[in-house]
Amino acid sequence: MAEFTLPKNSKVQKGKTHAATSNGTARKFKVYRYDPDSGENPRYDTFEIDTDNCGPMVLDALIKMKSEQDSSLTFRRSCREGICGSCAMNMNGKNGLACTTAIEDCKGDVTITPLPHMEVVKDLVPDLTHFYAQYASIKPWLQTVTPTPSGKERLQSPEDRAKLDGLYECILCACCSTSCPSYWWNSDKFLGPAILLQAYRWLADSRDEMTGERLDDLEDPFRLYRCHTIMNCANACPKGLNPAKAIAETKKLMAERQI
Ligand code: SF4
Ligand code: F3S
Ligand code: FES
Repeated sequence: MAEFTLPKNSKVQKGKTHAATSNGTARKFKVYRYDPDSGENPRYDTFEIDTDNCGPMVLDALIKMKSEQDSSLTFRRSCREGICGSCAMNMNGKNGLACTTAIEDCKGDVTITPLPHMEVVKDLVPDLTHFYAQYASIKPWLQTVTPTPSGKERLQSPEDRAKLDGLYECILCACCSTSCPSYWWNSDKFLGPAILLQAYRWLADSRDEMTGERLDDLEDPFRLYRCHTIMNCANACPKGLNPAKAIAETKKLMAERQI
């Protein structure tokens, strides 16, 4: 796997150390800190955490740091169970969800940075504005031209429904896109694996009637074809999904319609 790069604004300066607040098994966490409003360069702060008095996940450790040692530490989280995607970050060089990554599975001192190669809003919070705009650009909703059968829903056979497995589970955490070198260098034009998986979710939906228009929209040297099958995306996905496969299926649909 390609080595991950630090966030874009990273001229790291010396950080602070926060000692553990109780006496158990201490683990060290090196946490990326950056506040653009301060005018200071980013730094790594070291937090010592007594893991005997802390929940088992990296998110539990972050919450303990914020509650007991430095309330200014900033990160996103919501569901605490791998559903909302908001706690995505890089832990010991691998993108993942802090709420489903066990501290005991992280070897040595745990280095925590924001998702790689993104602008940083503060500390561990990446700016996802562009990512969400790219998501909106693929029109992620059911598009139809024929009227809905009167008094009925648009039905789908169990077989057609099964074609959405491996796609609908995506939580838009961006772990895959921010592990993709093509996305690092061309995120202005390349949609990246997360958004392309979402685009294929609608191409694969038997009820959607805009397949041709959706493919037209992807037929571009950058939006789709900047995927060079590097496969970091599939390795990074905390939900076990395979965006590279969805991209390959989309390229297949493109090829089929040329025939
Ligand atoms: Fe996250 Fe996986 Fe969806 Fe990518 S495909 S955004 S890694 S859930
Ligand atoms: Fe990137 Fe995945 Fe393609 S890592 S290049 S989107 S296979
Ligand atoms: Fe929701 Fe981690 S807090 S996925």
